[in-house]
Amino acid sequence: FPPELIRNFCIVAHVDHGKSTLADRILEITGTIKPGSHDNQVLDRLEVERERGITVKAQTASLFYELDGKTYLLNLIDTPGHVDFNYEVARSLAACQGVVLLVDANQGVQAQTLATFYSAFEADKTIIPALNKIDLKHANPDAVAAQMKKALDIEPSEVLRISAKLGTGVPDLLRAIVHRIPPPVGNVNKPFRGLVFDSWFDKRRGVVTLVAVVDGQLKKEDKISFVSSDKVYEVKDIGLMRPDKVSAEKLYAGQVGYIMCGMKTTKEAQIGDTVSHKSSPVPPILPIRPAKQMHPEEKSKAKPAASDVVAAYIRQRRHPAWTSFFLSRRHVTNSHFGLSHFNFNVDGHNYHVLRTGCFPFLKYHCTKRPYEDLSWDNRLMRFLKILNLGLPMLAYGLAASFLIKHEERVFAGVYPEDQSQNESLRGSLDKLMLNDSSVSVTMEQSAALGQGWRLGFLGLLHMEVFLQRLEYEHGATCIATIPSVPYRAKFKFEKQIKEFRTEVLTVVNPQSIPEASVVSEFSEPWVMGTILTPSEYMGEILAICMERRAQQKNATFLDNTRVLMQFHMPLSEVIVDFFDILKSKTSGYASFDYEDAGYRPCTLVKQFPVAIQATVGGKIIAREDLKQLRKDVVAQKIYSHGGRDKGRAQKLLNRQKEGKARMRMVETFRYHTTVLLKF
Ligand code: GTP
Repeated sequence: FPPELIRNFCIVAHVDHGKSTLADRILEITGTIKPGSHDNQVLDRLEVERERGITVKAQTASLFYELDGKTYLLNLIDTPGHVDFNYEVARSLAACQGVVLLVDANQGVQAQTLATFYSAFEADKTIIPALNKIDLKHANPDAVAAQMKKALDIEPSEVLRISAKLGTGVPDLLRAIVHRIPPPVGNVNKPFRGLVFDSWFDKRRGVVTLVAVVDGQLKKEDKISFVSSDKVYEVKDIGLMRPDKVSAEKLYAGQVGYIMCGMKTTKEAQIGDTVSHKSSPVPPILPIRPAKQMHPEEKSKAKPAASDVVAAYIRQRRHPAWTSFFLSRRHVTNSHFGLSHFNFNVDGHNYHVLRTGCFPFLKYHCTKRPYEDLSWDNRLMRFLKILNLGLPMLAYGLAASFLIKHEERVFAGVYPEDQSQNESLRGSLDKLMLNDSSVSVTMEQSAALGQGWRLGFLGLLHMEVFLQRLEYEHGATCIATIPSVPYRAKFKFEKQIKEFRTEVLTVVNPQSIPEASVVSEFSEPWVMGTILTPSEYMGEILAICMERRAQQKNATFLDNTRVLMQFHMPLSEVIVDFFDILKSKTSGYASFDYEDAGYRPCTLVKQFPVAIQATVGGKIIAREDLKQLRKDVVAQKIYSHGGRDKGRAQKLLNRQKEGKARMRMVETFRYHTTVLLKF
């Protein structure tokens, strides 16, 4: 297939607006699957996806489509809609040239409609907007098209109208995909290079990597290597996902396909890595961003470059250390100013710039804070070290955009139910983390639960889904501790700064919070939350947010009935049950999305007693007080006895087991409490 006959696109939308259903219809219309031969949502293959009815993992399908006497190869990527899985969308965008943006014609523009539109816009992808579910009785396509004009500046005439369920308008959409989305810009005759954008562990066949081929061609038995390691592999099998694996003789520039090359360990296939022929190494590919031709008229109308505007703001600032400014949408195009964080140099000084607003409110906060303070930056530096290149600013920004999406927001300890299962749980975690590279891991020791790991997730749903996948796909059951957010502790004294080699320590485990006496300030992560809701719920939402220490920033009416509200609020208030409460108070009509908005001072107390109460109709029917933890005598004794006094150590270990049983009891108690409350 020459690249001009290839189209790579993702389907993006808010949760439940019909992405997976549209993918089904496209697979049927193109004859890839027979109508009615499969269950619904063919591409939602994971057990947890089927059980929960949501997509958590982007899936790829290659299909052939006949139009005007030509056969096109379409590579479709179905992406998740929930905010926790945005990194999947970001990664999928790197392998595509365009997106289909679906909006439910009944529900209208929602929080993730804005977020996904913004990601695609930021990555300079062609956007095909489509109103879905026009078959519904209460669908109001004209009103929703007007909302899209107001919120996203999309002309109503550009918006297609479809029913993914019935197939209405889907052939027109396929034609628009071929006509509007540009083909990938690859050269089949150049040395082979491909971007690894997904990988997973197949129980029977080992590690499978999914690659977007940028240039050249690849065939079986070729010798390949990856930029991030020196190892050489022989290609055992290559092919297309149709949507199951179908072997092919060759993969060409512009195609998206799988490679199996006998990788032994799951760590070898790094997502975001570049693969090339061993004999002709290539520089690494950063997320692909095809250069968009600017219309000559637009060029003459173009405003001053974003960098000039920002430099002017910084020079005019009133405060010596910081300033805030807004950038218009035009400024954000084609520059790193669409990113959440980046560094910017003015008159020889380095500034850190943080985007604090969501689209369409592109507000930036600029400080003189050195970028070493940022946790994500360590990763970026590591990444750049691998590349071993002094990359220009733009590439730096692109790398950041790729990595920022991987910032973990919620941490929890994960332990085997029994220490004898430690090794097998470690193996399962390794395998699953290959498929979900956004999870971070460090070892952790707990007196009650033994040896385990502290995992970092992108959100609470992400954590639940990850633990469920561990059980379903790898048969591993585990105990997870209550999730928490990463806090920062700023040390008062040189002694601790030297000991920890940092002035500001990021703490992800409550056990390792330093004593308050050595800390001058604790701080916690805040987020900018965007809520889209019918206007009659505004008061109710305001009350819920205020209870959670939120500060209202904006409220904009999209039309007579829908309003977009923005709040600054602590992440710890969001991760527990905010979303559930918001949904229940607004009968499911409000949608919510958030993005990081820096750290703010807070008060932290290490240990405190917790009272658990079960109430029915306002009457307390049961109560249990959990005392704060005492000094960890058990662990100390085990360590000090070493291996010498095995009998005594065993006794202590048995006591630990009892502790674990107690822990499960507490879990059970919590469960019953929930049941009682519901009752
Ligand atoms: P996530 O992957 O969880 O983000 O959801 P999704 O966007 O993939 O939505 P999905 O395809 O799972 O559809 C959600 C629900 O909407 C399902 O019950 C579909 O049957 C229904 N649905 C999708 N498209 C249409 C449509 O055109 N008309 C009607 N009436 N229902 C639709």
